[in-house]
Amino acid sequence: MPKAVAIKGPAGKPGQVYYEFDKITIPEPQPKDSEVVVKLLSAALNHRDLFIRQNLYPGTTFGVPLLADGCGIVVKTGSSQEAKRWQGKRVIINPGIGWKDDLEGPEDPQGYKIMGGTKVYPKGTLAEFITLEAGEVEEAPEHLSNIEASALPLAGLTAWRATITKSGNAKPGRNILITGIGGGVALMALMFAAAADARVYVSSGSEEKIEQAKKLGATGGINYKEKDWDKKLRAMLPKDRPLLDAIIDGAGGDVVDKGVRLLRVCSVHPRIKCFNAGVISLTIH
Ligand SMILES: NC(=O)c1ccc[n+]([C@@H]2O[C@H](COP(=O)([O-])OP(=O)(O)OC[C@H]3O[C@@H](n4cnc5c(N)ncnc54)[C@H](OP(=O)(O)O)[C@@H]3O)[C@@H](O)[C@H]2O)c1
Repeated sequence: MPKAVAIKGPAGKPGQVYYEFDKITIPEPQPKDSEVVVKLLSAALNHRDLFIRQNLYPGTTFGVPLLADGCGIVVKTGSSQEAKRWQGKRVIINPGIGWKDDLEGPEDPQGYKIMGGTKVYPKGTLAEFITLEAGEVEEAPEHLSNIEASALPLAGLTAWRATITKSGNAKPGRNILITGIGGGVALMALMFAAAADARVYVSSGSEEKIEQAKKLGATGGINYKEKDWDKKLRAMLPKDRPLLDAIIDGAGGDVVDKGVRLLRVCSVHPRIKCFNAGVISLTIH
């Protein structure tokens, strides 16, 4: 029987427990007509996996394979044409269900459900095999290694939606502030925005992380622990575009209060700070 890694009890209070790993067996994969079986080659960690071990994540449960991100080879398929075309391909896995392509948000009234260690979508990538609907895999980009490809989906999709889809400001010459650059989503957002030639500023509690961010394409950075970070950031902005076009924020804190004052006024609604150019909260997908 194939193996996987889950967490095990006894149950503990949120934040007061650190669940142990549990090596489990999962059923021999038997794909339905429309399904594919992926043999995992790599899986990636996300901050939510730490929260799961601490019982700080909604739906945390025992006995379900951990982790939402993975890359692997399709080794078996169901009989449908859609499933069969994946045979032998190297794929990345869609980490969640309930949201296909609506730009407004999840089509499923119950929302977007992420796999890995939860009862809401009881599958996970810390396993030898995973069986999925054929529509839940994508071909892995050739230029990415297995490990790089597996680290892309969950944090990458979140960052893409915030930076590219919702902010609409990942464009040459635009000023974007990305807060908490030590975070997984923030790092992806930096790479997307810098690749689009936006001028990216970052915040962090660590000078070292700001320096690393500059190596990845950031123009400058400020330490959010300093009281007057907003003044320092204002002084860094170019004279010909002295305000921010967008803030990509996943941390909250005083960025809502101070950051809004640094945002440009919307050209469509000049009397308000425009939400198209406004604070984007990553906690809301
Ligand atoms: N990870 C995902 O795939 C995912 C998916 C959907 C939604 N989200 C949401 O996106 C947000 C970020 O998630 P993540 O997984 O990338 O988080 P993470 O890796 O835990 O990063 C969080 C970062 O927040 C920064 N931070 C802490 N206090 C701050 C403050 N007062 N001001 C500014 N920054 C502060 C820290 O940056 P420094 O280390 O630089 O100090 C920290 O590294 C969360 O709200 C999460 O719920 C995440």
